[in-house]
Amino acid sequence: KSLKAYNTFGIPVDAAYFAEIFSGDDLIELLEGNLVKEQKLLVLGGGSNVLFTKDFDGLVIKLSIPGIRSAVQGDDILVTAGAGVVWNDLVNYCVERGFAGIENLSLIPGTVGASPIQNIGAYGAELKDVFQSCIAYEIETAKERTFSYEDCHFGYRDSIFKNELKGKYIITSVTFKLSMSARLNTQYGAIQDELKNRGIAEPTLADVSSVVSQIRVGKLPDPSTIGNAGSFFKNPVIDKEQFDRVISEHPNVVHYPAPDNKVKLAAGWLIEQCGFKGMVSGHTGTWKHQALVLVNHGGATGQEVYGFSEQIIDAVDAKFGVKLEREVNML
Ligand code: FAD
Ligand code: EPU
Repeated sequence: KSLKAYNTFGIPVDAAYFAEIFSGDDLIELLEGNLVKEQKLLVLGGGSNVLFTKDFDGLVIKLSIPGIRSAVQGDDILVTAGAGVVWNDLVNYCVERGFAGIENLSLIPGTVGASPIQNIGAYGAELKDVFQSCIAYEIETAKERTFSYEDCHFGYRDSIFKNELKGKYIITSVTFKLSMSARLNTQYGAIQDELKNRGIAEPTLADVSSVVSQIRVGKLPDPSTIGNAGSFFKNPVIDKEQFDRVISEHPNVVHYPAPDNKVKLAAGWLIEQCGFKGMVSGHTGTWKHQALVLVNHGGATGQEVYGFSEQIIDAVDAKFGVKLEREVNML
């Protein structure tokens, strides 16, 4: 089966086997069958955070479990969505009903089921801020388990599902704790600027969602026309000592405070300073408005994109002594 339509980079690779799952029962049946025991597995939601570098010689399990429901609990609203729900459909559902908490995460591609994996984040918010719990099935036993916030070990673009439990569980639904009375989070500079632009002093939920969406559209390539998986690298988090060295040599380095007395650098800035912004290299390159995003200009292979990402890592290391780590999952 061709996976070209199942990854936003638009890389034309094939999977040996492919199964689409619409319910927890579907998944149990699949996990108890022989195919799963015999084959390598890959779980896919929207394919917006993967780069295929070769055909997948195993079984792709595409999560398409639908459904959103909500329940009032005191001042909070608990919203539960199926793993296959498109993330931005959930955002719209919540914004329309006045449920606050995920409006800053408007227009992030992909599915609800993948949202805890890397603890999606943007514009001053992270999934972990509203995560209540998720339900997942253990691949080996087909047993259901509920993961609490504490269980997930969320960090910047990180969770237990990328570490100890990598490849061991399939998330089927996620519950979020939202609020009807929360204060909006509009501290992020670009949000403030755009609200001012629009002459909005007291923004509504819908205003914040619309502003974030507009900022994103201006900066990020739309995967339906230009293949990409968003930020290709993480923003590097370095210790104070290393940071002092970087800033003494590069006083303009864009940086933010991070937990544990560390400092987060803007990878896009580092890459731009190495001359890569908007560069076209064969069928791949970096996006003209955001150097952190690698793109498929049409006809790129995963190998080609991967090779280009190696060049970027080497150049940033040579100039700044900082090692970029890929954010996108390599396959
Ligand atoms: P996939 O790409 O299908 O999968 C990603 C990983 O999660 C894979 O390892 C996969 O095996 C695993 N996985 C997927 N579903 C499940 C499941 N149900 N159970 C277990 N494992 C699973 N991310 C941000 O955080 N912030 C952003 O601002 C942002 N902007 C983006 C902009 C663009 C234009 C694009 C293309 C991507 C952007 N991303 C961003 C990355 C992407 O949207 C997120 O990582 C998203 O959560 C991926 O969802 P997906 O369903 O496409 O996951
Ligand atoms: N910058 C440059 N040149 C560039 C790009 C960025 O100099 O080409 C500098 C600018 O100073 C800019 C700063 O870097 O102010 C930060 O850029 P931006 O606001 O675009 O955010 P980012 O740090 O590059 C992160 C996330 C995005 C998320 C945005 C908004 C990571 C790896 N990326 O990008 O997430 O949407 O913040 O909050 O943390 C994704 O994960 O796929 C993704 C797009």
